Amino acid sequence: MKFLSVFSTSLLALCQLAAAEEAPQRLAKRASLQQVNGFGSNPSGAKMFIYVPNNVAAKPAVVVAIHHCQGTGTSYYQSTPYARLADQHGFIVIYPESPYSGTCWDVSSTATLTHNGGANSNSIANMVTYTLGKYGADASRVYVTGSSSGAMMTNVMAATYPDMFAAGSVYNGVPAGCFYTGTVNGWNSTCSQGNSRATPEQWAATVRKMYPGYAGAYPRLQIYHGGSDTTLYPQNYNETIKEWAGVDGYNYQAPTQTLDRTPIQQCTKYVFGDRLQGIYCPSIGHTVPVQGEEDLKWFGIIGGGGGSNPGTPATTTTAAPTASPTNGNGGGSGGCAAAQWAQCGGQGYTGCKTCASPFTCKASNEWYSQCV
Ligand SMILES: *[C@@H]1O[C@H](CO)[C@@H](O)[C@H](O)[C@H]1NC(C)=O
Ligand SMILES: *[C@@H]1O[C@H](CO)[C@@H](O)[C@H](O)[C@H]1NC(C)=O
Repeated sequence: MKFLSVFSTSLLALCQLAAAEEAPQRLAKRASLQQVNGFGSNPSGAKMFIYVPNNVAAKPAVVVAIHHCQGTGTSYYQSTPYARLADQHGFIVIYPESPYSGTCWDVSSTATLTHNGGANSNSIANMVTYTLGKYGADASRVYVTGSSSGAMMTNVMAATYPDMFAAGSVYNGVPAGCFYTGTVNGWNSTCSQGNSRATPEQWAATVRKMYPGYAGAYPRLQIYHGGSDTTLYPQNYNETIKEWAGVDGYNYQAPTQTLDRTPIQQCTKYVFGDRLQGIYCPSIGHTVPVQGEEDLKWFGIIGGGGGSNPGTPATTTTAAPTASPTNGNGGGSGGCAAAQWAQCGGQGYTGCKTCASPFTCKASNEWYSQCV
Protein backbone atom coordinates (compact mmCIF):
# COMPACT_ATOMS: atom_id res chain seq x y z
CA MET A 1 0.00 0.00 0.00
CA LYS A 2 2.76 2.30 1.12
CA PHE A 3 4.65 1.64 -2.07
CA LEU A 4 1.59 2.18 -4.19
CA SER A 5 0.77 5.50 -2.64
CA VAL A 6 4.36 6.66 -2.99
CA PHE A 7 4.24 5.50 -6.55
CA SER A 8 0.96 7.26 -7.28
CA THR A 9 2.18 10.40 -5.55
CA SER A 10 5.28 10.54 -7.67
CA LEU A 11 3.23 9.69 -10.73
CA LEU A 12 1.00 12.60 -9.86
CA ALA A 13 4.04 14.80 -9.36
CA LEU A 14 5.38 13.73 -12.70
CA CYS A 15 2.10 14.52 -14.37
CA GLN A 16 2.00 17.90 -12.70
CA LEU A 17 5.52 18.54 -13.82
CA ALA A 18 4.64 17.59 -17.35
CA ALA A 19 1.56 19.79 -17.24
CA ALA A 20 3.53 22.67 -15.82
CA GLU A 21 6.06 22.34 -18.58
CA GLU A 22 3.49 22.04 -21.26
CA ALA A 23 1.28 24.97 -20.27
CA PRO A 24 3.70 27.87 -20.72
CA GLN A 25 4.95 26.28 -23.89
CA ARG A 26 1.43 26.16 -25.24
CA LEU A 27 0.92 29.81 -24.38
CA ALA A 28 4.22 30.98 -25.80
CA LYS A 29 4.23 28.79 -28.87
CA ARG A 30 4.67 30.92 -31.93
CA ALA A 31 5.49 29.98 -35.45
CA SER A 32 8.83 31.20 -36.79
CA LEU A 33 9.87 33.00 -39.90
CA GLN A 34 10.91 30.57 -42.64
CA GLN A 35 12.94 31.13 -45.77
CA VAL A 36 11.43 29.52 -48.86
CA ASN A 37 13.72 28.37 -51.64
CA GLY A 38 12.23 27.28 -54.91
CA PHE A 39 9.01 29.30 -54.85
CA GLY A 40 8.99 29.29 -58.63
CA SER A 41 10.66 31.32 -61.30
CA ASN A 42 12.85 33.95 -59.66
CA PRO A 43 14.56 35.84 -62.45
CA SER A 44 15.78 38.67 -60.22
CA GLY A 45 17.12 36.53 -57.35
CA ALA A 46 14.91 38.05 -54.63
CA LYS A 47 14.62 36.03 -51.43
CA MET A 48 11.36 34.87 -49.93
CA PHE A 49 10.53 34.62 -46.24
CA ILE A 50 7.14 33.56 -44.94
CA TYR A 51 5.31 33.67 -41.64
CA VAL A 52 2.54 31.11 -41.31
CA PRO A 53 0.92 31.36 -37.87
CA ASN A 54 0.24 28.12 -36.03
CA ASN A 55 -3.47 28.85 -36.06
CA VAL A 56 -3.51 29.74 -39.75
CA ALA A 57 -7.07 30.15 -40.99
CA ALA A 58 -8.66 27.87 -43.57
CA LYS A 59 -8.30 29.68 -46.90
CA PRO A 60 -6.19 32.42 -45.29
CA ALA A 61 -5.64 35.97 -46.47
CA VAL A 62 -2.08 36.86 -47.53
CA VAL A 63 -0.20 40.09 -46.75
CA VAL A 64 3.02 40.90 -48.64
CA ALA A 65 5.15 43.21 -46.46
CA ILE A 66 8.06 44.84 -48.28
CA HIS A 67 11.10 46.29 -46.49
CA HIS A 68 12.89 49.63 -46.99
CA CYS A 69 16.50 50.12 -48.17
CA GLN A 70 18.92 48.51 -45.67
CA GLY A 71 16.10 46.25 -44.52
CA THR A 72 15.79 42.50 -44.86
CA GLY A 73 12.89 40.07 -44.76
CA THR A 74 13.84 39.30 -41.17
CA SER A 75 14.22 42.93 -40.08
CA TYR A 76 10.82 43.90 -41.48
CA TYR A 77 9.29 40.84 -39.79
CA GLN A 78 10.78 42.09 -36.53
CA SER A 79 10.09 45.81 -36.89
CA THR A 80 6.47 45.70 -38.07
CA PRO A 81 3.40 44.28 -36.30
CA TYR A 82 2.16 42.03 -39.12
CA ALA A 83 3.39 38.68 -37.71
CA ARG A 84 1.88 39.40 -34.29
CA LEU A 85 -1.38 40.35 -36.01
CA ALA A 86 -1.16 37.17 -38.09
CA ASP A 87 -1.07 35.18 -34.83
CA GLN A 88 -4.31 36.91 -33.84
CA HIS A 89 -6.12 36.76 -37.16
CA GLY A 90 -4.76 33.69 -38.95
CA PHE A 91 -3.42 35.27 -42.16
CA ILE A 92 -0.05 34.56 -43.82
CA VAL A 93 2.69 37.17 -44.25
CA ILE A 94 5.26 37.08 -47.05
CA TYR A 95 8.43 39.12 -46.49
CA PRO A 96 10.38 39.43 -49.75
CA GLU A 97 14.03 40.46 -49.55
CA SER A 98 15.86 42.55 -52.12
CA PRO A 99 18.87 40.86 -53.75
CA TYR A 100 20.80 44.12 -54.25
CA SER A 101 23.59 45.60 -52.18
CA GLY A 102 21.99 48.18 -49.85
CA THR A 103 18.72 46.26 -50.35
CA CYS A 104 16.70 48.92 -52.14
CA TRP A 105 14.17 47.44 -54.59
CA ASP A 106 14.33 47.64 -58.35
CA VAL A 107 11.51 50.06 -59.10
CA SER A 108 13.37 51.72 -61.97
CA SER A 109 13.92 49.18 -64.77
CA THR A 110 11.55 48.65 -67.66
CA ALA A 111 11.39 44.97 -66.71
CA THR A 112 10.22 45.58 -63.13
CA LEU A 113 7.69 48.14 -64.39
CA THR A 114 6.14 45.48 -66.64
CA HIS A 115 3.66 42.71 -65.83
CA ASN A 116 5.61 39.42 -66.01
CA GLY A 117 8.67 41.44 -67.01
CA GLY A 118 11.12 39.11 -65.26
CA ALA A 119 12.44 41.49 -62.57
CA ASN A 120 11.77 42.08 -58.83
CA SER A 121 8.04 42.69 -59.22
CA ASN A 122 7.73 39.41 -61.11
CA SER A 123 9.62 37.54 -58.38
CA ILE A 124 7.32 38.93 -55.68
CA ALA A 125 4.23 37.99 -57.71
CA ASN A 126 5.61 34.44 -57.99
CA MET A 127 5.98 34.31 -54.19
CA VAL A 128 2.27 35.09 -53.94
CA THR A 129 1.31 32.45 -56.51
CA TYR A 130 3.40 29.86 -54.65
CA THR A 131 1.72 30.76 -51.35
CA LEU A 132 -1.79 30.57 -52.80
CA GLY A 133 -1.05 27.06 -54.07
CA LYS A 134 0.86 25.69 -51.11
CA TYR A 135 -1.49 26.94 -48.36
CA GLY A 136 -4.79 27.05 -50.23
CA ALA A 137 -4.87 30.78 -49.52
CA ASP A 138 -7.69 33.05 -50.70
CA ALA A 139 -6.73 34.63 -54.02
CA SER A 140 -9.36 37.32 -53.51
CA ARG A 141 -7.73 38.45 -50.23
CA VAL A 142 -4.12 39.21 -51.11
CA TYR A 143 -2.70 42.54 -49.91
CA VAL A 144 0.54 44.44 -50.23
CA THR A 145 2.29 47.01 -48.07
CA GLY A 146 5.74 48.47 -47.56
CA SER A 147 7.82 51.39 -46.32
CA SER A 148 10.04 53.73 -48.37
CA SER A 149 11.64 51.58 -51.11
CA GLY A 150 9.06 48.94 -50.13
CA ALA A 151 6.33 51.56 -50.51
CA MET A 152 7.59 52.37 -54.00
CA MET A 153 7.41 48.64 -54.70
CA THR A 154 3.89 48.47 -53.27
CA ASN A 155 2.77 51.00 -55.88
CA VAL A 156 4.67 49.05 -58.56
CA MET A 157 2.99 45.77 -57.52
CA ALA A 158 -0.41 47.48 -57.63
CA ALA A 159 0.35 48.72 -61.14
CA THR A 160 1.95 45.56 -62.57
CA TYR A 161 -0.24 42.95 -60.81
CA PRO A 162 -3.55 44.77 -60.25
CA ASP A 163 -5.52 41.52 -60.47
CA MET A 164 -3.41 39.88 -57.74
CA PHE A 165 -3.94 42.43 -54.98
CA ALA A 166 -7.26 43.55 -53.50
CA ALA A 167 -5.73 46.43 -51.53
CA GLY A 168 -2.48 48.00 -50.41
CA SER A 169 -0.97 50.43 -47.89
CA VAL A 170 1.90 52.67 -48.93
CA TYR A 171 4.23 54.26 -46.31
CA ASN A 172 6.24 57.14 -47.81
CA GLY A 173 6.81 55.98 -51.37
CA VAL A 174 6.65 57.49 -54.85
CA PRO A 175 4.16 56.90 -57.68
CA ALA A 176 4.55 53.72 -59.75
CA GLY A 177 6.82 54.64 -62.67
CA CYS A 178 8.18 57.78 -61.03
CA PHE A 179 11.54 56.17 -60.19
CA TYR A 180 12.12 55.03 -63.77
CA THR A 181 15.74 55.24 -64.90
CA GLY A 182 15.82 52.40 -67.41
CA THR A 183 18.44 50.64 -65.25
CA VAL A 184 18.07 47.93 -62.63
CA ASN A 185 17.93 49.25 -59.05
CA GLY A 186 18.55 52.84 -60.18
CA TRP A 187 18.00 56.00 -58.19
CA ASN A 188 15.91 58.79 -59.73
CA SER A 189 16.66 62.06 -57.92
CA THR A 190 14.16 64.00 -59.99
CA CYS A 191 11.47 61.79 -58.55
CA SER A 192 12.84 61.48 -55.00
CA GLN A 193 13.02 65.26 -54.74
CA GLY A 194 9.42 65.64 -55.85
CA ASN A 195 10.14 67.08 -59.28
CA SER A 196 8.47 64.38 -61.38
CA ARG A 197 5.03 65.85 -61.77
CA ALA A 198 2.21 64.89 -64.08
CA THR A 199 -1.54 65.11 -64.44
CA PRO A 200 -3.78 62.32 -63.12
CA GLU A 201 -4.38 61.27 -66.73
CA GLN A 202 -0.66 61.07 -67.47
CA TRP A 203 0.05 59.08 -64.32
CA ALA A 204 -2.88 56.76 -65.09
CA ALA A 205 -1.43 56.15 -68.56
CA THR A 206 1.94 55.32 -66.95
CA VAL A 207 0.19 52.74 -64.74
CA ARG A 208 -1.83 51.20 -67.58
CA LYS A 209 1.27 50.83 -69.74
CA MET A 210 2.71 48.43 -67.17
CA TYR A 211 0.03 45.84 -67.89
CA PRO A 212 -1.18 46.42 -71.43
CA GLY A 213 -4.58 44.97 -72.16
CA TYR A 214 -5.64 44.80 -68.53
CA ALA A 215 -9.07 46.37 -68.13
CA GLY A 216 -10.08 45.33 -64.62
CA ALA A 217 -10.02 47.21 -61.33
CA TYR A 218 -6.83 48.26 -59.56
CA PRO A 219 -6.25 47.61 -55.84
CA ARG A 220 -7.80 49.88 -53.22
CA LEU A 221 -4.96 51.96 -51.83
CA GLN A 222 -4.10 53.95 -48.74
CA ILE A 223 -1.25 56.40 -49.25
CA TYR A 224 0.60 57.50 -46.10
CA HIS A 225 3.25 60.21 -46.30
CA GLY A 226 5.15 62.42 -43.90
CA GLY A 227 5.05 66.09 -44.85
CA SER A 228 8.59 66.61 -43.47
CA ASP A 229 10.16 63.85 -45.56
CA THR A 230 13.52 64.97 -46.94
CA THR A 231 14.30 61.58 -48.55
CA LEU A 232 11.21 61.14 -50.73
CA TYR A 233 9.87 64.65 -50.78
CA PRO A 234 6.24 65.27 -49.77
CA GLN A 235 5.27 66.19 -53.35
CA ASN A 236 5.46 62.45 -53.95
CA TYR A 237 2.37 62.12 -51.77
CA ASN A 238 0.46 64.49 -54.04
CA GLU A 239 1.72 62.77 -57.19
CA THR A 240 0.80 59.32 -55.88
CA ILE A 241 -2.70 60.53 -55.01
CA LYS A 242 -2.97 62.01 -58.50
CA GLU A 243 -1.83 58.72 -60.02
CA TRP A 244 -4.41 56.53 -58.35
CA ALA A 245 -7.14 59.19 -58.53
CA GLY A 246 -6.47 59.18 -62.27
CA VAL A 247 -6.78 55.38 -62.40
CA ASP A 248 -9.90 55.26 -60.22
CA GLY A 249 -11.60 58.28 -61.74
CA TYR A 250 -11.60 60.47 -58.61
CA ASN A 251 -11.02 64.19 -58.38
CA TYR A 252 -7.78 64.45 -56.39
CA GLN A 253 -8.60 68.04 -55.47
CA ALA A 254 -11.93 67.16 -53.92
CA PRO A 255 -11.78 64.57 -51.15
CA THR A 256 -15.25 63.48 -50.06
CA GLN A 257 -14.16 63.48 -46.42
CA THR A 258 -11.36 65.09 -44.45
CA LEU A 259 -10.71 63.57 -41.05
CA ASP A 260 -8.35 65.44 -38.72
CA ARG A 261 -6.04 63.60 -36.30
CA THR A 262 -6.75 60.31 -38.09
CA PRO A 263 -5.63 57.58 -37.67
CA ILE A 264 -3.00 59.18 -35.44
CA GLN A 265 -2.70 62.60 -33.91
CA GLN A 266 -0.17 63.99 -36.42
CA CYS A 267 -2.11 63.02 -39.56
CA THR A 268 -5.13 64.03 -41.60
CA LYS A 269 -6.99 61.43 -43.63
CA TYR A 270 -8.41 62.43 -47.02
CA VAL A 271 -11.02 60.06 -48.43
CA PHE A 272 -11.41 60.25 -52.20
CA GLY A 273 -13.78 57.31 -52.49
CA ASP A 274 -13.98 53.62 -51.62
CA ARG A 275 -10.77 52.88 -53.50
CA LEU A 276 -8.41 55.63 -52.38
CA GLN A 277 -7.43 57.37 -49.15
CA GLY A 278 -4.49 59.63 -48.42
CA ILE A 279 -3.04 60.07 -44.96
CA TYR A 280 -0.81 63.11 -44.81
CA CYS A 281 1.20 63.84 -41.68
CA PRO A 282 2.87 67.30 -41.87
CA SER A 283 5.24 66.92 -38.92
CA ILE A 284 6.43 63.40 -39.72
CA GLY A 285 9.59 62.70 -41.73
CA HIS A 286 10.76 59.50 -43.37
CA THR A 287 8.74 57.39 -42.72
CA VAL A 288 5.28 57.32 -41.17
CA PRO A 289 5.33 54.44 -38.65
CA VAL A 290 3.43 51.37 -39.82
CA GLN A 291 -0.18 51.31 -38.57
CA GLY A 292 -0.72 47.56 -38.58
CA GLU A 293 -4.29 47.45 -37.29
CA GLU A 294 -5.34 50.27 -39.62
CA ASP A 295 -3.91 48.30 -42.53
CA LEU A 296 -5.91 45.24 -41.55
CA LYS A 297 -9.08 47.34 -41.35
CA TRP A 298 -8.39 48.84 -44.76
CA PHE A 299 -7.71 45.40 -46.20
CA GLY A 300 -10.90 44.08 -44.60
CA ILE A 301 -9.08 41.39 -42.59
CA ILE A 302 -10.62 42.92 -39.47
CA GLY A 303 -13.75 45.05 -39.21
CA GLY A 304 -13.88 48.82 -39.13
CA GLY A 305 -12.29 49.75 -42.46
CA GLY A 306 -13.71 52.10 -45.01
CA GLY A 307 -13.74 55.81 -45.37
CA SER A 308 -15.82 56.92 -42.45
CA ASN A 309 -13.84 55.25 -39.72
CA PRO A 310 -12.11 57.93 -37.71
CA GLY A 311 -9.83 55.47 -35.94
CA THR A 312 -8.43 56.18 -32.54
CA PRO A 313 -6.03 59.02 -31.97
CA ALA A 314 -2.90 57.22 -30.92
CA THR A 315 -0.91 58.26 -27.95
CA THR A 316 1.67 55.53 -28.33
CA THR A 317 2.93 56.14 -31.84
CA THR A 318 6.12 58.07 -32.02
CA ALA A 319 6.97 59.81 -35.23
CA ALA A 320 10.51 59.49 -36.41
CA PRO A 321 11.81 63.01 -35.91
CA THR A 322 13.07 64.68 -39.01
CA ALA A 323 16.75 65.22 -39.25
CA SER A 324 17.20 68.90 -38.52
CA PRO A 325 20.56 70.39 -39.27
CA THR A 326 21.26 73.01 -36.67
CA ASN A 327 24.77 73.94 -37.67
CA GLY A 328 23.70 75.33 -40.99
CA ASN A 329 26.32 73.58 -43.09
CA GLY A 330 24.66 70.32 -43.89
CA GLY A 331 25.20 68.30 -40.78
CA GLY A 332 28.56 66.88 -40.03
CA SER A 333 29.04 66.28 -36.36
CA GLY A 334 27.61 69.01 -34.20
CA GLY A 335 24.14 69.47 -32.88
CA CYS A 336 22.10 67.06 -34.92
CA ALA A 337 21.15 63.43 -34.78
CA ALA A 338 19.19 61.72 -37.51
CA ALA A 339 16.75 59.13 -36.21
CA GLN A 340 16.68 55.44 -37.05
CA TRP A 341 15.82 54.96 -40.76
CA ALA A 342 16.35 58.65 -41.51
CA GLN A 343 18.60 59.71 -44.36
CA CYS A 344 22.12 60.68 -43.30
CA GLY A 345 24.00 61.08 -46.57
CA GLY A 346 24.13 60.71 -50.32
CA GLN A 347 24.76 62.91 -53.33
CA GLY A 348 22.82 66.15 -53.07
CA TYR A 349 21.83 65.52 -49.48
CA THR A 350 22.38 68.51 -47.22
CA GLY A 351 20.71 67.40 -44.00
CA CYS A 352 22.06 65.93 -40.81
CA LYS A 353 24.86 63.42 -41.33
CA THR A 354 25.13 62.10 -37.80
CA CYS A 355 22.89 59.34 -36.51
CA ALA A 356 21.29 59.24 -33.10
CA SER A 357 22.91 56.65 -30.85
CA PRO A 358 23.05 53.67 -31.28
CA PHE A 359 22.46 53.94 -35.03
CA THR A 360 25.14 54.27 -37.69
CA CYS A 361 25.03 55.79 -41.14
CA LYS A 362 25.17 53.18 -43.91
CA ALA A 363 25.22 53.82 -47.65
CA SER A 364 22.46 52.11 -49.65
CA ASN A 365 23.81 53.61 -52.85
CA GLU A 366 25.65 56.78 -53.85
CA TRP A 367 22.49 58.86 -53.43
CA TYR A 368 21.14 57.50 -50.22
CA SER A 369 22.59 56.62 -46.82
CA GLN A 370 20.42 55.71 -43.90
CA CYS A 371 20.72 55.45 -40.10
CA VAL A 372 20.40 51.81 -39.12
C1 LIG B 1 13.29 60.07 -63.60
O1 LIG B 1 11.93 59.75 -63.70
C2 LIG B 1 11.18 60.61 -64.53
C3 LIG B 1 9.75 60.17 -64.39
O2 LIG B 1 9.38 60.24 -63.05
C4 LIG B 1 11.72 60.54 -65.95
O3 LIG B 1 11.01 61.45 -66.75
C5 LIG B 1 13.19 60.87 -65.94
O4 LIG B 1 13.72 60.68 -67.23
C6 LIG B 1 13.93 59.96 -64.97
N1 LIG B 1 15.32 60.36 -64.85
C7 LIG B 1 16.32 59.56 -65.21
C8 LIG B 1 17.70 60.07 -64.95
O5 LIG B 1 16.16 58.47 -65.73
C1 LIG C 1 -0.25 67.99 -51.10
O1 LIG C 1 -1.29 67.43 -50.31
C2 LIG C 1 -1.36 67.95 -48.99
C3 LIG C 1 -2.46 67.21 -48.27
O2 LIG C 1 -3.66 67.32 -48.96
C4 LIG C 1 -1.62 69.44 -49.03
O3 LIG C 1 -1.61 69.94 -47.72
C5 LIG C 1 -0.54 70.11 -49.87
O4 LIG C 1 -0.85 71.48 -50.01
C6 LIG C 1 -0.45 69.45 -51.25
N1 LIG C 1 0.66 70.04 -51.98
C7 LIG C 1 0.51 70.57 -53.16
C8 LIG C 1 1.74 71.18 -53.77
O5 LIG C 1 -0.55 70.57 -53.75
